[in-house]
Amino acid sequence: MFDFHLLRKYILIVIEGEPRIPTREEAVALLFEYTKTESLRKHAFAVEAVMRACAKKFGEDEDLYGLAGLLHDFDYEMYPTVEQHPYVGNKILAEKGYPEDVRQAIMGHAPYTKVPRETTIAKCLFASDELSGFVIAVALVRPTRLDGMEPSSVKKKLKYKAFAKTVSREDIRNGIAELGIPEDEHIVFVIKVLQENAGTLGLA
Ligand SMILES: [Fe+2]
Ligand SMILES: [Fe+2]
Repeated sequence: MFDFHLLRKYILIVIEGEPRIPTREEAVALLFEYTKTESLRKHAFAVEAVMRACAKKFGEDEDLYGLAGLLHDFDYEMYPTVEQHPYVGNKILAEKGYPEDVRQAIMGHAPYTKVPRETTIAKCLFASDELSGFVIAVALVRPTRLDGMEPSSVKKKLKYKAFAKTVSREDIRNGIAELGIPEDEHIVFVIKVLQENAGTLGLA
């Protein structure tokens, strides 16, 4: 069937040129405009760091992955319900010209949207979001924080249901399985990225 949307898109590209992807600075400004809570801002930066590392690991675009990490929860503080988040954010991002891949990944990080995670960027985001939060929660109860953290301490806490009980163990498990890498490898990967960024994340 003839796709008029695609034709319109190509005509616009011919007239206006390729749509410009917003910069990291613009993304941070957008995050700060909507998110005032310090911990939520830090969560955005943590997931951004993991996403950039994920892009590097899979030979993908680091800036694009970074944007998905940075903005996946930017609407959450203002629009926290399952009817709003991340739907409202997705609409705002579309208006601002954020690429489809980034927005699809952001929609897919919330399993209740039922948006399938078909791309590596979407799989990386889903596998990194809750796990980053969990690793940071584990770090916060350790005297040495992230220093010397082993995957075994993360796995032990994952089994202990009373610890960080709002973090969905099922999402973490499914996320890593969808990414198709061994659980230990991904946990080690996330710990390492967060260790490397401990200073900027306020976890040193
Ligand atoms: Fe979210
Ligand atoms: Fe998140």
